[in-house]
Amino acid sequence: ALVNTKEMFKKAYDGGYAVGAFNVNNMEIVQGITEACQELKAPVILQVSAGARKYANHTYLVKLVEAAVKENPNIPIALHLDHGSSYELCKDCIDGGFTSVMIDGSHLPFDENVELAHKVAEYAHKYNVTVEAELGRLAGIEDAVNVSADDASYTNPAEVQEFVERTGVDSLAIAIGTSHGAYKFKPGQKPQLRFDILAEVGKRLPGFPIVLHGASSVIPEFVQMINQYGGQMPDAIGIPEDMLREAAKMAVCKINVDSDLRLAMTGTIRKYFAENPSHFDPRQYLAPARTAIKDMVAHKINTVLGCAGKA
Ligand code: G3H
Ligand code: 13P
Ligand code: ZN
Ligand code: NA
Repeated sequence: ALVNTKEMFKKAYDGGYAVGAFNVNNMEIVQGITEACQELKAPVILQVSAGARKYANHTYLVKLVEAAVKENPNIPIALHLDHGSSYELCKDCIDGGFTSVMIDGSHLPFDENVELAHKVAEYAHKYNVTVEAELGRLAGIEDAVNVSADDASYTNPAEVQEFVERTGVDSLAIAIGTSHGAYKFKPGQKPQLRFDILAEVGKRLPGFPIVLHGASSVIPEFVQMINQYGGQMPDAIGIPEDMLREAAKMAVCKINVDSDLRLAMTGTIRKYFAENPSHFDPRQYLAPARTAIKDMVAHKINTVLGCAGKA
């Protein structure tokens, strides 16, 4: 069924696991993700960025997700706006069938972030739509925001309680060292997350769901496949799976993944083209790409998220 994130986060928090939030842009991505979730009885969040909405169109994406809900009747599916940059965009998505929205005011001064998130939460809650906000800034490239590594700043745990109380939001994204994209750490740099900040946030917000953006593992197998078959992604590196598993056991209830979907799809298609240079039917290369997404999502559900059988 199409649901908001309230119940899935409550169960995830109490059960010490996280729900996967996967970015969707086309039919094969929606199908690959939801087929894996259906087979493993896992709840799932399908999220749409402003860029996805621009690429595929709001109606197409909503209808694709509605089709997935119909075809996979035994799992809860949330349709979420990723990195909403304004009240108007959030309102458009709430009015247009989304069950959850993120208002990303993380680049704003604290009081302006509060004011904007509060306004979105007031509107969203009238329609039973859940709201995610963000406090602290991730490094890397975001949809609406372009944050350099030097500009990024970890979430200040001393601020989270006031922020949540004043805004009334349902979940909070925090910055503990993850970042968007395929280059999360410098070459030779050891991947590290600030688990101390996550633990402190958890203490100050008992029972409250925390969100991790920029949480792809940048799966080495797919990076190698891309580089082997004509791509150039040297030094691509992500968040190690054991760190994500650790975060999922803590207050983190939503783990965002986009880059791993892109890598699975691109690696598989590059390999297919290299091995089948005469083929030109898109179904021939999109089918294995869809299967690669399905297998990758299944792997995450089983070994990183811990949400198998929780539907
Ligand atoms: O946070 C960013 C997501 O990966 C969405 O990326 O804005 O290119 O669709 P996008
Ligand atoms: P990745 O780039 O690590 O997949 O992060 C995606 C994300 O946070 C979407 O909001
Ligand atoms: Zn993000
Ligand atoms: Na958790």
